[in-house]
Amino acid sequence: MNVLVVGGAGYIGSHCVRQLLAAGHRPVVLDNLVFGHRAAAPPDVSFYPANLGNEKEVGKILRKERIELVMHFAAYAYVGESVTDPLKYYFNNVAATLHLLRCMLGAGVKKFVFSSTCATYGTPEKMPITEDTPQAPINPYGQTKLDVENALKALARANGLSFAAFRYFNAAGAAEDGAIGEHHDPETHLIPLAIDAATGARPPLQVFGHDYPTPDGTCLRDYVHVDDLSRAHIAVFDRLSAPGAALFYNLGTGRPTSVLEVIRAVEQVTGKKVPYTLAPRRAGDPPALFADSTKAQKDLGWTIRYPDITAIVASAWRWHAAHPQGYARS
Ligand code: UFG
Repeated sequence: MNVLVVGGAGYIGSHCVRQLLAAGHRPVVLDNLVFGHRAAAPPDVSFYPANLGNEKEVGKILRKERIELVMHFAAYAYVGESVTDPLKYYFNNVAATLHLLRCMLGAGVKKFVFSSTCATYGTPEKMPITEDTPQAPINPYGQTKLDVENALKALARANGLSFAAFRYFNAAGAAEDGAIGEHHDPETHLIPLAIDAATGARPPLQVFGHDYPTPDGTCLRDYVHVDDLSRAHIAVFDRLSAPGAALFYNLGTGRPTSVLEVIRAVEQVTGKKVPYTLAPRRAGDPPALFADSTKAQKDLGWTIRYPDITAIVASAWRWHAAHPQGYARS
């Protein structure tokens, strides 16, 4: 299948591009390189440094490349920034996506795979989180993802768009061969910061909160390997053949892991101590978030190849050890 990967030079998008190639599909990358890295996309894959707001250009790409399905990974994802600068998030995450969808409908492309997030659930009362857990985002980032989910439902009914929205938990890890991995600027995610603290590339890690109602007092999250996420995006293709299909799936391992457990995994994998300080809670962090992904496993035959935090961290470490500065500037 000819697949346009929007945000294909970003962290999750670039891993998906490689999985698409491995599965015999033909990915085409569109990425404006605001957060993406040119080097994250294979040099022999068609690459368009376009903006979604440029409907004329995006429409041309869809037609020229005979695109049959679009995967959309391009969004801003800094929760704190979404609180202080919501317009940036509404424009980039909602308005830009609406431009893309209008182009798709204009070009007759009616299959769509969307990166959503567990942040659409806010702070749920019950764990694990199923797809039926009420969605009540507590920040504009989560709200913008939910807004797109709702727009997609309407387009499925009105225009026969078929879509899958994947609600990711904590994407983590890197390609098994260490060739591509996680490089955010600024970096706010736990695993890369813990690795950099271990190597001395960054200051000691701050553990945000140690008085949560969890077994060791630190937050519990569901770290899911980026290649496991990517494979779900391809496993859903068959289900998008029915016009108007509206599919929602949680993607997580279902295993809660605390911040201190992540630190221990980094120490085990790197053989180095992770220096850390106990810091106050970070605003907006729910104590625990973990998934029930039974639906994806049943419907899509999705399997989790990295159920274990140590294996996930080991893959992240292979990338970091080979690329201590991340990607060269693009
Ligand atoms: N943490 C620290 N110190 C740090 C960084 C993180 O203690 O320096 C803790 C956080 O408080 C949290 C856990 O590590 O408990 C994981 O934090 P991340 O920032 O790595 O990930 P989040 O759970 O905050 O965010 C993830 C995704 C977001 C998404 C969010 C939904 O990265 O895109 O889940 O809640 F919006």
